[in-house]
Amino acid sequence: MATRVASLSDLPDVTPVRVDVEGIPICLVRLGGDVRAIHDVCSHEEWSLSDGGQVFDAEVECSLHGSSFSLDDGHPSSLPAMVPVPTYAVTIDGDDVLIDVSVALNGAPTPDF
Ligand code: FES
Repeated sequence: MATRVASLSDLPDVTPVRVDVEGIPICLVRLGGDVRAIHDVCSHEEWSLSDGGQVFDAEVECSLHGSSFSLDDGHPSSLPAMVPVPTYAVTIDGDDVLIDVSVALNGAPTPDF
């Protein structure tokens, strides 16, 4: 079931924003008229991707050690992280941004730090 988490018009472009959905921390990133949702905890160590994370080319870079994760499929493109981060379905309905956290789109395990 999708949960409304934000208004599209309130989200800054290419800037990670943390939201919590059903107790799951989510890193939300607006890319123009699109929005991606990825689990907010880096798979390398317990660190928030939205805390200082930078977005380049549809990837979010962890601010602690620099691994970048695809906002499309959650896979890291650089070390030290080697495990993907869960990604979630986003629906945009008018100005409403909704996320379904019932299943990770990419099948990645939930970080268990
Ligand atoms: S905690 Fe994210 S790369 Fe190390």
